[in-house]
Amino acid sequence: MRSFLVLSGVLSLVPTAVLGHGWVHRHILDAKTYIGYLPESKPIFTDSAPSIVRRVGSDGPVLEIASNHITCNYNATPISDSGVSRTGSVTAGSNITFYWQGWPHSGPIITYMSRCTPDCSTFFGNESASWFKIDEFGYQAPPGGSVALWGTQQLDTQKYYWNVTVPKCLEDGEYLVRHEIIALSDCKSKGKCQFYPSCAQVKVIGGGGVEPSGSGLVKIPGVYTDANVYWDTNTMDPKGYVIPGPDVWKCPT
Ligand SMILES: *[C@@H]1O[C@H](CO)[C@@H](O)[C@H](O)[C@H]1NC(C)=O
Ligand SMILES: *[C@@H]1O[C@H](CO)[C@@H](O)[C@H](O)[C@H]1NC(C)=O
Ligand SMILES: *[C@@H]1O[C@H](CO)[C@@H](O)[C@H](O)[C@H]1NC(C)=O
Repeated sequence: MRSFLVLSGVLSLVPTAVLGHGWVHRHILDAKTYIGYLPESKPIFTDSAPSIVRRVGSDGPVLEIASNHITCNYNATPISDSGVSRTGSVTAGSNITFYWQGWPHSGPIITYMSRCTPDCSTFFGNESASWFKIDEFGYQAPPGGSVALWGTQQLDTQKYYWNVTVPKCLEDGEYLVRHEIIALSDCKSKGKCQFYPSCAQVKVIGGGGVEPSGSGLVKIPGVYTDANVYWDTNTMDPKGYVIPGPDVWKCPT
């Protein structure tokens, strides 16, 4: 009975997956699974967030590079239960695993974090320069590989999951984790570059007390511009692709 219900949930997904582009349907942190938005069993774009993952507007892209939608996707709002922010606990130095439901386009995969101030129940993420990059994969050889490919091709090879390590030295507290694919096919046309961001609310535990600061912190919106995301898939050599945004923030050594 139970397995039948799970299976029918997966089957009901198929039309959406074929028509649309993609979204993160599951996050795993500290061995716990959090369903994404759109929830795979219930793909309704107006429902409240089912977990620690903020709403996304649809399985389609965000195009407005300078708008509040670029922060955490359309309709993303802080998640709280009776005023208390809903977070998933994650141990500093461990991995967050993002499962996409599938992925049809080429481009980089990028992940940022931002401290939630004062906490994730009220913080949108667009307030100030608060985001630091924790992971990026553009066009490069994967670990242990020699042939360069796009992050999204590696995602495909990995059957749509992506591991990102939470910096081990980070100060404990509430953060947003913003995981994103940029689909490059239309980035040659201003206002057509496709961003697929989504944000999860996490509580870092077991960290080392370090608070990122300075030029490693960027504002979203703000970090992307028409110029730094410009890419013409027809004429440009992927080997020259520069991932937009700041360098990946590293723990002090
Ligand atoms: C991804 O991270 C999870 C959790 O730490 C781990 O179990 C898994 O082996 C990792 N996968 C790869 C390919 O490193
Ligand atoms: C952040 O985004 C929200 C939602 O779009 C908006 O209501 C708010 O005014 C924005 N805040 C700033 C500082 O831009
Ligand atoms: C975390 O993910 C990375 C990349 O897949 C992997 O190399 C590492 O072994 C993983 N760490 C753990 C603790 O699973």
